[in-house]
Amino acid sequence: MRIGNLNIDGILFLAPLAGISKRPFRLLARRYGASVCYSEMVSADGMVFEQPRTIQLLDHQPNEHPIGIQVFGANPENMAVAMKRLEVFKPDLLDLNFGCPVKKVIKKNGGAAVLKDVNLAGELMAAAVESASVPVTMKMRSGWSADAEVYLELGRMAEKIGVAAVTLHPRFRSDGFSSRSDWSKIRRLKEEITIPVIGNGDIETPHDARDMLDQTGCDGVMIGRAAMRDPYIFRRVRRFLDDGTLLPEMSSREKIEMALEHARETITQYGERIGTLMMRKHLAWYTRGFPEGAGLRRRLMTVESYHDMVLCLNDYLDKVMVGSDG
Ligand SMILES: Cc1cc2nc3c(=O)[nH]c(=O)nc-3n(C[C@H](O)[C@H](O)[C@H](O)COP(=O)(O)O)c2cc1C
Repeated sequence: MRIGNLNIDGILFLAPLAGISKRPFRLLARRYGASVCYSEMVSADGMVFEQPRTIQLLDHQPNEHPIGIQVFGANPENMAVAMKRLEVFKPDLLDLNFGCPVKKVIKKNGGAAVLKDVNLAGELMAAAVESASVPVTMKMRSGWSADAEVYLELGRMAEKIGVAAVTLHPRFRSDGFSSRSDWSKIRRLKEEITIPVIGNGDIETPHDARDMLDQTGCDGVMIGRAAMRDPYIFRRVRRFLDDGTLLPEMSSREKIEMALEHARETITQYGERIGTLMMRKHLAWYTRGFPEGAGLRRRLMTVESYHDMVLCLNDYLDKVMVGSDG
């Protein structure tokens, strides 16, 4: 797949996930077959005022390419400055966030709030495309609410302005994550514009990815929450799309090995105390669906160190998984 002048090996994208898509997690997604990963979103205003927290979010390494950095903001001048400043981090893509529903971002008129003002959206896209030296992509929801659908208008605008690809998560801001995303809108967008369209929303299995491609004709598929629970989904989807083979899910043992590797990387990057706290939620997600997993997850929520994690998980394997091939 090609986005602007960037050649991409494959069509699978790890969704930008604030608080989650940090380097150790992105590395797992990439190892299992994600073609492009996005960083956590950063604030354009934060880049202009060089807030250390914003810079800290941009922690990728040379082995992570291609990587997209996602930016939110509502001020076109700041967006232009941010695009230039982000060059030092050597992103392959810069992505505009027109979909984030969280209050902190909306309050600053960024994320999904931009969907309420198509002129502002146009100015932000134009400022970004003008200033960036790499392809600019845009990720949006369908509109602020069902009576204010703007995705087709924004898609056409994006194409005209020179945005290189568009991702659609076909829900309204007012939906949050309720109801199912409406994939027919991905098809409508694909029919409307010629730049690549990346479909997003509710991909849980390799079959879902196949269905989305077949039903919408989209060029790429982006996966968020299912990858949070299991980054190995990228390998399963990739293989299924390649030759129809449905690989089994990872066994519990393999998932535990992956979880501990994730933990080691996180602790190396963030230190033992913070890294352990950060890992608790990942461990809970990774162990979802484990036999007798509720007790395990309660214990995992209290781990204070890497050593605690190993003890807790080994203990679980010894007691619960004995004799099983899990
Ligand atoms: C924890 C979490 C954090 C998210 N952070 C972002 C973000 O920073 N930027 C963004 O554009 N979307 C964000 N999203 C939305 C996802 O990128 C994606 O559009 C959405 O989860 C739908 O895809 P899925 O059904 O595969 O999860 C976030 C979603 C979740 C669950």
